[in-house]
Amino acid sequence: MAPAPTVLLRSGAHLPLLGLGTWPLNDAEAADTVDLALRTGYRLIDTAENYRNERGVGEGIRRSGVPREELFVTTKFNREHHSREGVRRAFETSAGLLGLDYVDLLLVHWPNPGQGRHVEAVEGIVALMEEGLVRAVGTSNYKPAHLQQVIDAGMIPDVNQIQLDPQRPRIVDRAFHNEYGIVTQAWSPLGQGSGLLDEPAVVAIAEAHGRTPAQVVLRWHVQQGVVAIPKSSNPERLARNLDIFDFELSGAELAALYVLDAGRADVVDSDEFGH
Ligand code: A2P
Repeated sequence: MAPAPTVLLRSGAHLPLLGLGTWPLNDAEAADTVDLALRTGYRLIDTAENYRNERGVGEGIRRSGVPREELFVTTKFNREHHSREGVRRAFETSAGLLGLDYVDLLLVHWPNPGQGRHVEAVEGIVALMEEGLVRAVGTSNYKPAHLQQVIDAGMIPDVNQIQLDPQRPRIVDRAFHNEYGIVTQAWSPLGQGSGLLDEPAVVAIAEAHGRTPAQVVLRWHVQQGVVAIPKSSNPERLARNLDIFDFELSGAELAALYVLDAGRADVVDSDEFGH
C-alpha cells in the first residue's frame, strides 16, 4: 500500500499522518508487528521506554529491510530522566535498544508537573536535536498550561501527543497547538475499547462509504491534520487502518462525529498521572 501522506513539522521533518502504535506489545510481538506493518506500507512507528519493547521494534525494523531514511521512529522517556543529562542517557539507552543512530522524534512521555522539570526535559531534547541525534522535539500529554511554560522558556515543540478521539476531540488543546504550529498526534485514536466503533453515527457513516468504523474514525483524525497511531497486530486491521487516504468525509459527517463528544468521556489527567 502507498505510504501515508506527511505533515511538515517546524523542524523541517516530515511526519506521516498515520502510523503504528506499539503499546502493549512485548519485544517478540513488536518485532513481528513492526516488520509486517513496514512491509504493509507503514513508515511511522511509535514506541516508548515505558513500553519495554524498543528492542523488538528495532528488530522488526531491521527484518523489514526498509531503508532507515524512509522511516519515522518515535520514542519517549520516563520522569526520572527529566534533566539535561538524564535526557541524553535516556536517548542513548533507547537508541541502543532500537539499534538506531538517531530517532526522528523524541517525546517527554508525561509532564509530571509535580516534579517541576518538564521544561528542562524539553531543553534536553532540543540539545540532542542541535547535535543531529533527534530530528524533532516533542511532548506528550502536555496541557496548554504546560506547553505555555515551555514556550515562555523560548522553545516550541514540533509535536504534542495526546489522548484524542471523536469522543474526546480536545478542541481547546488543538486550538492552542495550532496557534503555535505544534502538530497534534492522537494516542488511542480508536477510543481504546470505549464503544466508539459501535456508535450508530460511526457505523452509519462507515456504511455510507463502504468502509469500516475504524477507517471512518481514523479518517476523521487525518482529514483534520491530526496524526493517528492506532495499534493493531491483526494483519487485516493493520492494512485497513492505513487504507484511508482515498475517501473523504463531508463537513456534515465530520460534524456528526463531533456530536459524540458529550463531555462524558474522561481523559487521563496529566496533572495527576504520569511516569
Ligand atoms: P487488534 O490489535 O486486535 O487489532 P488504540 O490504538 O486506539 O488504543 O486501539 C488499539 C486497540 O484497537 C487494540 O485492541 C486493537 O486490537 C484494536 N483495533 C485496532 N484496529 C482496529 C480496527 N480496525 N477495528 C477494530 N479494532 C481495532
